[in-house]
Amino acid sequence: ALGIARLHKDTGYYTYDPGFGSTASCRSAITYIDGDNGVLLYRGYPIEQLAEKSSFLEVAYLLMHGELPTKAQFGAFEHEVTHHTMMHEAFRTFLYGFRHDAHPMAMLTGMLGSLSSFYYNDLDLRDPEQRRLAAIRLIAKVPTIAAACYRYSIGWPIRYPKNDLEYTTRFLHMMKEVPSGPLELNPIVSKALDLLFILHADHEQNASTSTVRLVGSTGANPYVSVAAGVAALWGPAHGGANEAVLKMLEEIGDAKHVQSAVDKAKDKESGFRLMGFGHRVYKNFDPRAKIIREMTHKVLGELGVNDPLLEVALRLEEAALHDDYFVQRKLYPNVDFYSGIIYKALGIPTEMFTVMFAIARTAGWVSHWLEQQNDPENRIGRPRQIYTGATPRDYSPIDARA
Ligand code: ACO
Repeated sequence: ALGIARLHKDTGYYTYDPGFGSTASCRSAITYIDGDNGVLLYRGYPIEQLAEKSSFLEVAYLLMHGELPTKAQFGAFEHEVTHHTMMHEAFRTFLYGFRHDAHPMAMLTGMLGSLSSFYYNDLDLRDPEQRRLAAIRLIAKVPTIAAACYRYSIGWPIRYPKNDLEYTTRFLHMMKEVPSGPLELNPIVSKALDLLFILHADHEQNASTSTVRLVGSTGANPYVSVAAGVAALWGPAHGGANEAVLKMLEEIGDAKHVQSAVDKAKDKESGFRLMGFGHRVYKNFDPRAKIIREMTHKVLGELGVNDPLLEVALRLEEAALHDDYFVQRKLYPNVDFYSGIIYKALGIPTEMFTVMFAIARTAGWVSHWLEQQNDPENRIGRPRQIYTGATPRDYSPIDARA
């Protein structure tokens, strides 16, 4: 093929690696995964410890800066994020242009892309301080935008951020406060959502983060880079899986239908996969799934929710873990398998599940974008291909074609 004749300038070869399963696209000091042993570290800290002891905003600081903050550093960071939570009023006009029943992920993608029309003109990407500020703006504004998208989709007026609340609680208030009065928010709900945000905050070079880096490698601004990440996240093979899992569990409906769902997933002709199962990197239990599984029981118990879908999920997990097809292919529940059940118990609408993921992952995306901007080895991302098309031929005039 013609493509093979064009060799890499240094090595003389390039690799054919669909899905980049064996390709490292960068060096990164942010997140470490050992997929065979189910290990996940953010900046060296085990996810289990961060989930138990930290908060989402502290984790966002850690991912961005590389170290846990001192009290003073955290105070300054929180203050800065809080200071940037407001949206420009013109965003309303932009938001109101979407169809009222648009999916919130569609709106979020558009709204984030539009941030560059408000904050790009005077942004000098060569200045590290301006880069940092852009990252802070994204972390601060994503919950405000996400809540606004949701409220618009259900016809409720947009709420301003209450800046005396902490990050996750503030988001829940903006999203859920009813038009007629204040919201009584159960602290269990805030705490559980904050923990889910920690678990979703980063995951090295996944599809959406790689997308952010690919766009960022061209010198494009961070707002459009992150908007591209949101678009990549939406796919059901990636972050869209949490919404797809809940829909699947609802369709299965009852524990007695679990086996036929497993059988259908094994049948390649069916085109059906068990959503929330399998992972490119984890060939053992996803450590985040372990935490969420435990948390699901705890949160549902604390909130007094008795969701029959939990029983369906548990039976599905058990059936898959004892099935040769899933065992041989090392297909274990991933982070999204149980998260939908918790989101549902927390009163988060199904179409907002992937938006939750996007809010949390923004911390990872901006950290990777910042790391990339400082990386002397950063080059424009430009994969090659194996050309399979026609060999050279002559143009024929339209009248001469058969
Ligand atoms: N159900 C049934 N079979 C599956 C599943 C599944 N969920 N996942 C993988 N397989 C099978 C494949 O058919 C393939 O079988 P084969 O070897 O006989 O051809 C084998 O397992 C390997 O699968 P690949 O698609 O090659 O694995 P890949 O690493 O490319 O994909 C992915 C990983 C996308 C996560 C896949 O497992 C999947 O589609 N899972 C369901 C969607 C999902 O839960 N996505 C969320 C991932 S986590 C995240 O992004 C936050």
